[in-house]
Amino acid sequence: MANAKNERTFIMVKPDGVQRGVVGDVLHRFERRGYKLVALKMIQAPKVLLESHYAEHKGKKFYEPLLTYIGSGPVVAMVWEGLNIVSVGRKMLGATDPAKSEPGTIRGDYGIVTGRNIVHGSDSETSAQREIDLWFRPDEINQWPHTAEKWIY
Ligand code: TYD
Ligand code: MG
Repeated sequence: MANAKNERTFIMVKPDGVQRGVVGDVLHRFERRGYKLVALKMIQAPKVLLESHYAEHKGKKFYEPLLTYIGSGPVVAMVWEGLNIVSVGRKMLGATDPAKSEPGTIRGDYGIVTGRNIVHGSDSETSAQREIDLWFRPDEINQWPHTAEKWIY
């Protein structure tokens, strides 16, 4: 496939998504699409981890409320793998502001306001690598043969 790259991305169901019971739906969407789950954990993130995760937003007016929100309960952190998953994953999530997300996207199906937008997804391959390294140890990332490798590509 021209320009298609096998990539990994970091996807996280935020505390509002966990509390509203959409973890299974988020997993199901990525599974149905043909992507491969290689790491998953539920974690109540310590503030230092969230400060590092959202370092690019430090100083913005939504930064402190964002850390409070993401630290308010457990999140489900995941690493997904597949061709072009960084950009396709962002499309599956929808726009940052759920009001601007298309129906059929996760945020467009479940969200109304930016401050409760259900899911996180890495915005570039560089961010994905940084976020995966931040949330997972190398031995927490699994290798296994997915049928997609035979049937989807
Ligand atoms: P950002 O990285 O811009 O969005 P995305 O999650 O789509 O990559 O912002 C990170 C999170 O910060 C976003 O998911 C929700 C929150 N946020 C606000 O609460 N208010 C805002 O105005 C923005 C831009 C983001
Ligand atoms: Mg972002």
